[in-house]
Amino acid sequence: MIMDQAVRAESIVWPLNGVAVMSASYAQEDERFDRIYSKSKQQQWNVDDYDWTYELDADNPLKLPDQTLLIYGSSLWDRLSDERRSEARRHFQSWTLSQILHGEQGALMCAAKLAQGETSNSARMCAAVQVFDEARHVEAYSRLVNDKMRLCYPLSSSLASLLEDTVTSPDLDITNLGMQILVEGIALSIFHSLVVYSQDSFVKKLVTQIQRDEARHFAVGQITLTDLYTNELTSHELMIREEFLCEGISVLYEHLCADDIWEPLGHNRKECAGLVRESLIAATLRRNLFRRLVPAVKSMGLLRGRVVQVLESLRLLDYADWPMRDIEQQMSAP
Ligand SMILES: [Fe+2]
Ligand SMILES: [Fe+2]
Repeated sequence: MIMDQAVRAESIVWPLNGVAVMSASYAQEDERFDRIYSKSKQQQWNVDDYDWTYELDADNPLKLPDQTLLIYGSSLWDRLSDERRSEARRHFQSWTLSQILHGEQGALMCAAKLAQGETSNSARMCAAVQVFDEARHVEAYSRLVNDKMRLCYPLSSSLASLLEDTVTSPDLDITNLGMQILVEGIALSIFHSLVVYSQDSFVKKLVTQIQRDEARHFAVGQITLTDLYTNELTSHELMIREEFLCEGISVLYEHLCADDIWEPLGHNRKECAGLVRESLIAATLRRNLFRRLVPAVKSMGLLRGRVVQVLESLRLLDYADWPMRDIEQQMSAP
């Protein structure tokens, strides 16, 4: 029998392991951050401005082509009736947006930690405005997942472990790297795919607006970490960041197999997990989601040593020189 409501999860409590820096200076000393902070203030928006009486399509809530499903083209997909295909679409889309929703909550916590611990006033102001951006994203995705799709999946165990390492690191730059680059890098690619492939104008418009906020967060992370990783850290400290990155990339690549949806859909978890890992279509879909992350890693000077090996083993290294035009466009827009 198909579950209509995925299993409800318990709340998780993590220690923060951080510092609160009471800065003596209120000078806005970094023009790059100041420009982003100024843009953030101009680009504030309200989730209430959307017409939430709008109903999503019952058979395909995000109106995405079936080619975006991990099991598309498999013998399992070919065997499914129209009704079972609708269920598969709804569960897969709900799982994806549920993980985005949990990631947004994690982003809110990380931004709050950055706002407390940043020593630069300019970077702190960007983090502070990000806290509210992330609250707005939590609200928007919660409405989509809980009110409109009426199916919310718990945080996957793999994403939970990455979020825990990111939120609880005593090194503020690792919190920044885990959230602004790893998690937001993947999220930006998912948002981009939604905007390009969804035929639902409500979803397209909402995600476009969220995407604009995320492009700013990603840019803040890249500026902060590029300065740090190319100028300030010792080779031993850099190696620790590379290890974190390797682990995070591997965890996210596994997470994107969406193993948690098969049992609620009435399929054998092990069989489907194997099928997804053998599928060329699924591998292409998963790899595509790294096209923002890998060039960012290169630009921060972390494309070295074991990072190269891990990216090569997952066939992600080709994205190192992928252009990030959409982010640049959003950052240069008025
Ligand atoms: Fe967000
Ligand atoms: Fe964000």
